[in-house]
Amino acid sequence: MSTDLDFEAVAEAFYAALFREAPDVERLFRDETNKTVMFVNALESISGLERGDPHFADFMAMLGQRHRDIGITQQHLKAGWTAFNEALDVGGGNLTLPRRQFYRDAFKKLVAAMNYDPDDLH
Ligand code: HEM
Repeated sequence: MSTDLDFEAVAEAFYAALFREAPDVERLFRDETNKTVMFVNALESISGLERGDPHFADFMAMLGQRHRDIGITQQHLKAGWTAFNEALDVGGGNLTLPRRQFYRDAFKKLVAAMNYDPDDLH
C-alpha cells in the first residue's frame, strides 16, 4: 500500500470540499475542465521535491503567483486550508507525520506567494 499520496483522490476531495466550503470560488476558474489534471501535476511535482530544495520554494512561488489577482480572497484561502487538510485525510491515509507536514508547508508557501498571511488560515 502506498505510503504517499493518492494524487487523484486528493485532487477530487480537494475540489469537492473547496466548492462546498466556498461555492463562489467555482466561477473564478476560466476553464474548469483541466483543473483536476493540473492539480495532480502540481502535486506530483511537489512530491518529488525536498523541503530544503530551492526548487521547492521556486515552484510554490511560481504557483502562488499564478493564483494572484484572480479574485481569491482570505475567506477562500481559509476554505482551501480546510479542504486541503480534508483531502490529505482522504488521499493520504498512510502519510507519515513529516510527510503530511511537508504538504501542509507547501500549501502555506502557496498562500505566502499569494501575498496572504499563512498563519491566518484558521
Ligand atoms: C485556497 C486554495 C486554492 C484556491 C482558492 C485555488 C483556486 C484556483 C483558481 C480559481 C484557479 C484558476 C485560475 C484561472 O483559471 O485563471 C486555479 C488554478 C490552479 N491551481 Fe489552484 N487554488 C487553490 C489551491 C491550489 C493548490 C493547493 C494547488 C496545488 C497543490 C493548486 C494548483 C493549481 C494549478 C496547477 C492551477 C492551474 C494554474 C495555471 O493555469 O496557471 N491550487 N486555482
